[in-house]
Amino acid sequence: MGGPRNEQDSVRAETIAIHGGYEDDPATNAVAVPIYQTAAYAFDSADHAAALFNLEAGGYRYTRINNPTTAVLERRVAALEGGLEALAVSSGQAAVNYAVTNLTSPGANIVSVPQLYGTTHTLFAHILPNQGVCTRFAESDQPGAIEELIDKNTRAVFCETVGNPAGNICDIEALARVAHRQGVPLIVDNTVASPILLRPIEYGADIVVHSLTKFMGGHGTALGGVIVDSGKFPWRENARRFPMFSRPDHSYHDLVYNDRFGDAAYIGRCRCVCARTIGAVLSPFNAFLLLQGIETVALRIERHIENGRRVAEFLRGHPRVEWINYAGFDDSPYHALAQKYLRGRGCSLMTFGVLGGYEAAKTFYDALRLVKRVVNIGDAKSLACHPASTTHRQMSAEEQRKAGVTPETLRLSVGIEHIDDILADLDQALAAGSAKVA
Ligand SMILES: Cc1ncc(COP(=O)(O)O)c(C=O)c1O
Repeated sequence: MGGPRNEQDSVRAETIAIHGGYEDDPATNAVAVPIYQTAAYAFDSADHAAALFNLEAGGYRYTRINNPTTAVLERRVAALEGGLEALAVSSGQAAVNYAVTNLTSPGANIVSVPQLYGTTHTLFAHILPNQGVCTRFAESDQPGAIEELIDKNTRAVFCETVGNPAGNICDIEALARVAHRQGVPLIVDNTVASPILLRPIEYGADIVVHSLTKFMGGHGTALGGVIVDSGKFPWRENARRFPMFSRPDHSYHDLVYNDRFGDAAYIGRCRCVCARTIGAVLSPFNAFLLLQGIETVALRIERHIENGRRVAEFLRGHPRVEWINYAGFDDSPYHALAQKYLRGRGCSLMTFGVLGGYEAAKTFYDALRLVKRVVNIGDAKSLACHPASTTHRQMSAEEQRKAGVTPETLRLSVGIEHIDDILADLDQALAAGSAKVA
């Protein structure tokens, strides 16, 4: 699917997904990534332990800080995203939380697009304010709407590259430009697109987060998240806004992250401060499951996209479907951005409304047989969700509308089963609705 993207980057995504970040295990020559299911690592001596804690010696000390299995996952996802380094955490939600917490302090704000996954909205609107950090939600995902909210206390601009469930495609290059003009990094959640479809760092994003639970893991067996640092944001030049990277950190015997980690200061601090002291750690076993999933992500995404297109066309032509929101259509408001960022492809995530509104949506939903009724997305299995009553339930009606959710909205994450079986299930569930109306 992907060719080499630049001269230094000659290994393709399909190959990175299978081999990235791992050479045969030095202890055993094992070809599969071993699961280092250990909490701790033995020190040779007190001096060795002190050197590890001083970050003078490389190695492992405690799995809350790092782990050899998880380290492979971190290197692999960093390579897939074209980033410098990554930190894997226990869930996508932990990744979003750390990505923001790592550069905010009381009195700071972040500026966000309104089209967010529901729990991210809850984190931003209700939880971060308890830590003195406020979120300024823009009216839309347009760069101008974002820029007018940035002030001297802004620490980051946040967006989902493709919104869940809104399906909006953010103009990453334009958002990065307005953020950088004000000396602020752009953090993007790339869960829905995945690095197989879109590598935001190539368009100027500074930090990329993922729920690995979704397309990357791909089988709905393990939760996980990751934060990828592009290594490109100039923290030193913006030291007044980001003193946490340039001032001695008393919580870590006066370490200065810019000095110790250089271009990797952001992710170095995230590991030393967020992972170490807040502790939402990924289990090595889940790192292994996620690595297994990632091996096939490129292949799966191809089928997801193809099945997604077929389902979108089927729904658009169905008399029981009132509207469908799918960026792969020529008349989608996001068509031009889909051309630019997704190379003309639509994602396998889409929303639609059935004739008859909320009640008809419920009848359709309850009649599904193959497609699972769940809140997850990005599984090999086809999944359906009713966001207003689940993922986006905590939001007000107005917040839901801005996030792309109406009472009757149904979200589909189209899986990789045989397309005829998926269409047959949707068809019979739509027929159940019309039988009830008739
Ligand atoms: C776009 C997006 N970001 C973050 C998350 C949170 O991920 P997790 O469920 O792994 O905590 C989700 C979950 O659905 C999501 O869709």
